[in-house]
Amino acid sequence: MEAVTVEAVTKRFGRITAVEGISFAIRRGEVLGLIGENGAGKTTTMRMMAAILQPTEGEIRINGYSVRQDAMAVRRQIGILFGGDVGLYERLTARENIAFFGRLYGLEPKRLAERIAFLAELLGMEAFLDRRVGPFSRGMQQKVAIARTLVHDPDVILLDEPTTGLDVSAAAVFRQLITALRQAGKTILFSSHNMGEIEKLCDRLAIMHKGRLLFVGTLAELRHYAGLHDLDDLFVKMVSGGERLG
Ligand SMILES: Nc1ncnc2c1ncn2[C@@H]1O[C@H](COP(=O)(O)OP(=O)(O)O)[C@@H](O)[C@H]1O
Ligand SMILES: [Mg+2]
Repeated sequence: MEAVTVEAVTKRFGRITAVEGISFAIRRGEVLGLIGENGAGKTTTMRMMAAILQPTEGEIRINGYSVRQDAMAVRRQIGILFGGDVGLYERLTARENIAFFGRLYGLEPKRLAERIAFLAELLGMEAFLDRRVGPFSRGMQQKVAIARTLVHDPDVILLDEPTTGLDVSAAAVFRQLITALRQAGKTILFSSHNMGEIEKLCDRLAIMHKGRLLFVGTLAELRHYAGLHDLDDLFVKMVSGGERLG
């Protein structure tokens, strides 16, 4: 069964069409990579999937729940992490930041404590769990933000350019996390403009360009259709032609 279906979705902001008639599905337990230049519509797509923004046209279902009719149910199924500034409360500790979100999702105190302990171990953040996050490094802040995203144990995880601005070792921690989440059977959509990262982590990839979806499939299929081996060359070929493959 499909965990996510996006059906003919368009999003307009006034006269700007950010997303135009896109359709794709993500299978349960799949890692789908979403790649595209700045302004391609990746973040807008993820915000609609998380029921933060409503589509102008079309429908999105997360485990069968409609973002139009069941936004609250969708939010319980989804964990979303935005890259860049992660927006933590600087004067609170890591634990307090995570707990704040857990309570918003209605987690009971015992369950919340268990989730925080589990995530602290998974992410290697036990040593700084009870320190205020203000002076944390970018990598440490990112771990807190990830824990906050996962606190309610969401089934579908959306990661919007999660490694942007991370150093090499923090990005490596991230890749391990995605592997662990996949083993736990989570469904993951993760955007990047780094083709190498997509190649390492994803079962399939989707390519967006100027609001449209140019391709969804495996890397082998993409190479076959495009007749090129190098991923960066493939990407340039697709976005320069703007043609649809597959
Ligand atoms: N809230 C908004 N109001 C107006 N235009 C927006 C808004 N959010 C995004 N856009 C526009 O929609 C397009 C897609 O943006 P975005 O989804 O952020 O792309 P990406 O994440 O791929 O860089 C861009 O042209 C962007 O300027
Ligand atoms: Mg974006």
